[in-house]
Amino acid sequence: MKLLVTGGAGFIGSNFILHILKTYPEYQVTNLDLLTYAGNLENLASLENDSRYRFVKGDIADRDLVDGLVASCDAVVHFAAESHVDRSIMNPNIFVETNVLGTQVLLDAAKKHGKRFHHISTDEVFGSLGPDDRAFSESTPYDPRSPYSASKAGADHLVRAYFHTYGLPVTISNCSNNYGPYHFPEKLIPLVITNLLEGKTAPVYGDGRQVRDWLHVEDHCRAIDRILHDGRLGETYCIGGDGERENIWIVKKIIEILGEGEDVIEYVEDRPGHDRRYAIDHKKITEELGWQPQVRLESGLEATVRWYQENQDWWKRVKSGAYQEYYEKQYQKR
Ligand code: NAD
Ligand code: TYD
Repeated sequence: MKLLVTGGAGFIGSNFILHILKTYPEYQVTNLDLLTYAGNLENLASLENDSRYRFVKGDIADRDLVDGLVASCDAVVHFAAESHVDRSIMNPNIFVETNVLGTQVLLDAAKKHGKRFHHISTDEVFGSLGPDDRAFSESTPYDPRSPYSASKAGADHLVRAYFHTYGLPVTISNCSNNYGPYHFPEKLIPLVITNLLEGKTAPVYGDGRQVRDWLHVEDHCRAIDRILHDGRLGETYCIGGDGERENIWIVKKIIEILGEGEDVIEYVEDRPGHDRRYAIDHKKITEELGWQPQVRLESGLEATVRWYQENQDWWKRVKSGAYQEYYEKQYQKR
């Protein structure tokens, strides 16, 4: 099978390409990625001389480029996006351009050439849960509340519209917060780990009691693999990690793993419109496709901390580059 993976130089996309080529040695992958601040080809350095893998630098909103690439693949797996909520609060434009308009360009090409399309989305499209609310599932109404989640919701609606209107063979997955290797250090877990390794503080927004459902990126890749091969067309699958924890729990766990003291915690100003709780009920994919998360949060976190300890060159380069300017600005704001 020939896959066109978009956003394959990012966190989840690069883990997915590594997973696919390991699991299916006969597959071929083309990675279309614009290499924004979040894209990093170092993640895929092990594939540089692998004839099954090809990298194309470009924008998913570039119709001519996308048309040719989609024409020559069997299926599109679409990860490319602007992915950080805090950045979407500062500049929503690029989120609409990439996440909504870029997705539509890909859909048009998939429609023209009759290609299978899998779209990666987020649980954030469902809004925010109270402490006793039932977890999100495939039937939860959409209620996005940040520019990021609104742009992802817009993309999801377009993907479904192309299924119903044009019969495009699509599937969608809405997953919870991922963690693991190659996670860009602007997100909570890699930011806290790398800050502590640098002797800095761990910034906690508001009271730190917000809840996320943490999913190891390898479990996520296995779930996408199952949906791509055996998912029912037109269907949505929710993917969660059975890892609901308050942010402060996560921060304290990382502190414990690194043998630091809790004085490194720095409570900072809260994110505007901060969603309180996300949680996923993954019964559908478990019953239909036999998938369930295999990585327990405690052991997954320990392995992730070790990965950042052993790959300091990777994150130090990332943090000292374009990321640094953004990071300083965020801190000045608070
Ligand atoms: P990421 O920010 O690490 O990577 C995004 C990649 O997309 C980067 O390599 C970037 O260069 C590329 N990209 C951005 N704009 C592009 C464009 N216009 N054309 C081509 N490439 C472009 O993101 P991630 O965390 O790997 O997330 C991947 C997908 O999963 C996204 O669609 C995101 O919404 C979704 N998701 C992520 C999480 C999470 O916890 N990280 C949770 C739920 C859903
Ligand atoms: P993040 O990793 O940005 O993912 P998302 O906003 O998509 O869930 O944030 C995870 C949680 O951690 C979220 O509740 C915001 C919080 N957070 C902090 O408390 N401090 C930080 O420095 C960051 C980046 C996030």
